Amino acid sequence: MASNENPDPPLDAIVAAVSEAAAGANRYADHRATALRERIAAWLGVDAASVAVGAGSVGLLQQLFLTFVDAGDEVVYPWRSFEVYPVYTRLMGGVEVTTPLTPDHQFDLDALAAAVSPSTRMVILATPNNPTGTALRTSEMRTLLERIDPRTVVVIDEAYREFLDPSFGDPGLELVPDFANVVVTRTFSKAHGLAGLRVGYAIGHPDVIASIDKTLFPFAVNGLAQAAAIAAIDSIDLIQQRVDRILGERARVIASLAADGWRIPDAQANFVYLPLGERTDSIYFELEKRGVVTRPFSNEGIRITIGSDDQNTRFLTTLAQVAQVVQVVQVVEAEVASPG
Ligand SMILES: Cc1ncc(COP(=O)(O)O)c(C=O)c1O
Repeated sequence: MASNENPDPPLDAIVAAVSEAAAGANRYADHRATALRERIAAWLGVDAASVAVGAGSVGLLQQLFLTFVDAGDEVVYPWRSFEVYPVYTRLMGGVEVTTPLTPDHQFDLDALAAAVSPSTRMVILATPNNPTGTALRTSEMRTLLERIDPRTVVVIDEAYREFLDPSFGDPGLELVPDFANVVVTRTFSKAHGLAGLRVGYAIGHPDVIASIDKTLFPFAVNGLAQAAAIAAIDSIDLIQQRVDRILGERARVIASLAADGWRIPDAQANFVYLPLGERTDSIYFELEKRGVVTRPFSNEGIRITIGSDDQNTRFLTTLAQVAQVVQVVQVVEAEVASPG
């Protein structure tokens, strides 16, 4: 339950499309993934020139960095967020500028706006955020964008969009047409269950899309991935049923955690976040010893992916046992530290 994957294997129709594509694997695939771009554009109701396809959304993020960030350029993002942002910033020789999350694990929009300077080349917002699961509304993003120089690229990383309450809005439809500096990245890895095939897409102004296309590694999105993504869009109703099941399980996990007294941030993705502070490592290791693998962020918290019904139940019962053990250990440690 550590990597925010979809617990279900791909739909049969997707596996069949991949098998068919595999029969032609002696050929290079279409580098531009034209059929997939057009399919995505028609599905979303946008122009195909506004859509880029890449090797997962991390591939597209790397393309965005390659295109826009040079040595010495500042990249602004809230922290904690997705671990790839500092890695790519450093790879480019860029300068990381981070703003802390608010005490309830939300983005601090005033701090973000204040952190943007004339040297800022890129701002990145993961919404829903990894690992906290908290999300921004499109209206909040608009207010922030109005405070940012239009020469600064603003990336909205929506890897978990499909798990978000739709009332938060759609930046692809609501913001991209009004802000030429906004790029939305999305993926087939999570809701569509294709993490192992590496395919994602970006929506943005055609000039920005044309620029990032120039940095696409040749044939980066292979033919199997292209076929799988098209088949996923063709089966979007079945995918939605699976997403709905995950959302149902997320609600069950949240309710059970709340009943056990845990307070967690608003969970808008396919995971929940337990802000455990200094208890993080001990709870993580105790869970792992019992076979429940989660993602720890030392001294901050652990992120737990919503899995199958059985996995979620096992996590909940194991956490309840572990919480008792850790509490007992802490009481004993405290007594040893201050005898008498
Ligand atoms: C915020 C965020 N963005 C992007 C990704 C990358 O997804 P992929 O490269 O599989 O599309 C992840 C994966 O964990 C993520 O958490």
